[in-house]
Amino acid sequence: MALLEVRDVTLRFGGIVALDGVSFDVEEGQISGLIGPNGAGKTTAFNVITRLYKPDSGEVLLDGSSILKAPAHKIVGKGVARTFQNIQLFRTMSVLENVLVGAHGRGRRVGPKEAYEVLDVVGLRERALFPAAALPYGIQKRVELARALVAKPRLLLLDEPAGGLNHEEVYELGEFIRKIRDDFELTVLLVEHHMNLVMRISDDVNVLSFGRKIANGPPSEVQADPAVIEAYLGADDEHDDDEPSPNGTSQVSDTVSDTEPEDEA
Ligand SMILES: Nc1ncnc2c1ncn2[C@@H]1O[C@H](COP(=O)(O)OP(=O)(O)OP(=O)(O)O)[C@@H](O)[C@H]1O
Ligand SMILES: [Mg+2]
Repeated sequence: MALLEVRDVTLRFGGIVALDGVSFDVEEGQISGLIGPNGAGKTTAFNVITRLYKPDSGEVLLDGSSILKAPAHKIVGKGVARTFQNIQLFRTMSVLENVLVGAHGRGRRVGPKEAYEVLDVVGLRERALFPAAALPYGIQKRVELARALVAKPRLLLLDEPAGGLNHEEVYELGEFIRKIRDDFELTVLLVEHHMNLVMRISDDVNVLSFGRKIANGPPSEVQADPAVIEAYLGADDEHDDDEPSPNGTSQVSDTVSDTEPEDEA
């Protein structure tokens, strides 16, 4: 049985169908990529899984049990933690305080010692007492990751963790995600526009386009899927400044890695 099962989830915002009968599974211990052009519904799916949004219909099961009746603040206690596409730290609190807050929902008492251990994992021990807002963007993203990890989740949802990172940092992030998956025995659901990163580290990939799931499979299969290439090329048409790529497989890669999110919401 999969750790996470998303079953036929539909969510509308007025006339927009952000998720349209979406189903996918995330197997325990895997890194599962969730990709798709801007506005495809990826963040909305995360917001449903973490109970920030209530779907109009469908079901979300964790270990076979519905989580849709649990309030959002109980989700961490069920073993689901996340980072946000737009960083959501307590700006005036220190790095350490932000991490301690992350442990709160798990119903465990976490002291500074445990928080510092997680700060070591992300390499931020020496910044523990800095106000979060004073740190560069890339470092703030690591604070968010530490805050999610200290809750000792089973399922970690990462919403564009590579956003704003340079080429080398994106590579290192990939290695880091694999390492924490192993060290913390995590299952990871990864939303990313950096196609090289997703394809390199994912065991399985689901693709959304306009709220619908259009493909699922191992990275090599999904990358070569005509429906996926078409979805990204369609999205690419909106960007007049983007160069078309010469062949199918790399088109997905080039298009996506060169496409910054339009909407930082
Ligand atoms: N709170 C909201 N109210 C109204 N519409 C919303 C809301 N959140 C998302 N949407 C709409 O739902 C659709 C899916 O948005 P979502 O943010 O999930 O896309 P995404 O795949 O995460 O895109 P991106 O790659 O740009 O982050 C979009 O059309 C978006 O405008
Ligand atoms: Mg998003």
